[in-house]
This record gives sequence, structure tokens and C-alpha cells, in this order.
Amino acid sequence: MSTQTVMVLSGPNLNLLGEREPEVYGAETLDDHLTVATEAATAHGLAIDHLQSNHEGELVDAIHAARANCAAIVINPGAFTHYAWAIHDALAAFDGPVIEVHLSNPAAREPWRHTSVVAPVAAGTIAGFGSDGYRLAMDAVAALLASA
Ligand code: DQA
Repeated sequence: MSTQTVMVLSGPNLNLLGEREPEVYGAETLDDHLTVATEAATAHGLAIDHLQSNHEGELVDAIHAARANCAAIVINPGAFTHYAWAIHDALAAFDGPVIEVHLSNPAAREPWRHTSVVAPVAAGTIAGFGSDGYRLAMDAVAALLASA
């Protein structure tokens, strides 16, 4: 069987990780998080693909492309989490497991962060564990793919 690929998607402002509000999001850069994700995926015999975009339509296009090429999606939609219904709809059209990841715990922050339009189309959400969230997400993906 060929190696299954997990599409890791990062939403707006996540390119600034390491510089952006380190007291909230930590000192790690997006590359540091991707290293964690890659190591965890490799341990499960999975490959990853990654796109970071500050533009909703680019993320929608990447989700459409993943329909043909990827077995699962791990997405940190950034602030799009809270209102981007086009991302919700694109994910609803993806057949494999979707895991929502947040570095911080939005439920413990401002009220406007308490709503996720992605959560209803995700298998589950991992929030508040920093980089470890990407490892936990890959563990969840591997378990869900194994039981599919
Ligand atoms: C975030 C949480 C969102 O509320 C915020 O807009 C982000 C990052 C997180 O990873 O904690 O950009 O998704």
C-alpha cells in the first residue's frame, strides 16, 4: 500500500509564530510545529503536506485538492475558525478524518473565540497543548485511519 498523506493546513497569522504574542502562542515557529508533526506522522508511517495561507480561498482550494491526494486533514484555521463558513463547507466535502488543532485554548479566551465553525465537521479538536497538539493530532489521525 502506498504511503498515506496528511494535509496540514495553517491559517492566517500562523506564519508569524515565534514573534506573534509569544505569551499566548509560545516561542516556537511554524517550522518547529511542522517538525513535530512530521516526526509524529513518520512514526505512524504517514507523510505530510503543508500549506500556510492568510487567504481563505487558498485554504478552500487546498482542501479541494486534498480530496484527491490526502487521507486526512489536520487544520489550525487561526481566526478563520470562528467565522469561515467556506472552510466549514469545503471540509464537509472531504471524506477522510479532519482534526482541528489550536495551540492555545480558545475556550479559555475571549468569548468570540468560543465558537468554532470547523468543529462540527471535525472528528475532534485538540486545543491548548502547543506543539504537542500536532503530535496528538497525528496519533488521532493514525488511529482513525487504522479503524476506517
Ligand atoms: C489559534 C486560536 C485562534 O483563536 C487565533 O485566531 C489564532 C490561533 C490557536 O492556534 O490557538 O490565530 O487558532
